[in-house]
Amino acid sequence: MMLVQGLQFPLSTRPKPRPRPTVPLAAPLSLPMAFCNALEDVINTFVDPPALRPSVDPRIVLSDNFAPVDELPPTRCPVTHGSIPPCLVGGTYIRNGPNPQHLPRGPHHLFDGDGMLHSLLFSANGDATLCSRYVQTYKYLTESDAGTSVMPNIFGAFHGIAGIARAVIVAVRVLTGQINPIQGFGLANTSLVFFAGRLYALGEPDLPYAVHVDPVTGDVSTIGRQDFSGQLKMGMTAHPKKDSVTGETFAFSYGPVPPFLIYFRFDPAGNKLADVPIFSVQQPSFMHDFAITENYAVFSDVQLVMKLMDMVLGNRAPVGSDQGKVPPTWSASTECNK
Ligand SMILES: [Fe+2]
Repeated sequence: MMLVQGLQFPLSTRPKPRPRPTVPLAAPLSLPMAFCNALEDVINTFVDPPALRPSVDPRIVLSDNFAPVDELPPTRCPVTHGSIPPCLVGGTYIRNGPNPQHLPRGPHHLFDGDGMLHSLLFSANGDATLCSRYVQTYKYLTESDAGTSVMPNIFGAFHGIAGIARAVIVAVRVLTGQINPIQGFGLANTSLVFFAGRLYALGEPDLPYAVHVDPVTGDVSTIGRQDFSGQLKMGMTAHPKKDSVTGETFAFSYGPVPPFLIYFRFDPAGNKLADVPIFSVQQPSFMHDFAITENYAVFSDVQLVMKLMDMVLGNRAPVGSDQGKVPPTWSASTECNK
């Protein structure tokens, strides 16, 4: 058994200034931004129900073990009992998860938190180094400069009339240059994957963000949002599959407009190859994950579907279950292996 010190994150620890990815940002808290923030506060106060649903009530969602924590610079953790197994020396354990930079002013789902990476580097001297850093997404950097939430909470904010009103405010923010949708709304908060010699933080609404763990200091940094030479144009699953035999990595994208599912792969060098649209998927669903066999890619056409009109006409969320949906087939295509 191995115990290391320093695993509690000091809430007062503030991040030191570090090099940032070069991303064009809006001016900090401009007049249009302040106006939109005020409108959002009106929606939060007067349009949302007095008691939020538990799944999006930040007082519940962000309580106890899920309360946000600050970044932690590389912190040495001396081993106090036992020793680090030699097979781990030089390696790093790293995990990803949602951790909002700013306390939300309105509805907030657990999935809406900014991605934070917690890294534990096992050093040759027998110690470990713990570090916690945000993935510096466009959303994170924009809201860091603004000092408050600016981007929409994709999972928690769009529900019923209040959700429609927030969608209008998002449009105003885009038209007034507060946010640039081309840079993505992603949180990079779901998973990590290592392929073609590079580590990526992933969240399926956006492109992957390349990240790096310094093998000497243990510090974690963000390299930037990756479109793979312009070949990846929309969000990618957070659960790609790597073939340990061929070195290829398999992935997919899905969305609300046809084709609802697009399959693709990366070669061993990390080059993204051609898209394979899966036309047998006839309505937008939240695929989230898939499976790979030697000859097939297997997608489950689940009953969790996108129903945008339900938000407009039914005062509900744009995502919900459709228990009457019966998948016509399991979508497996020999096209996948071309
Ligand atoms: Fe997942």
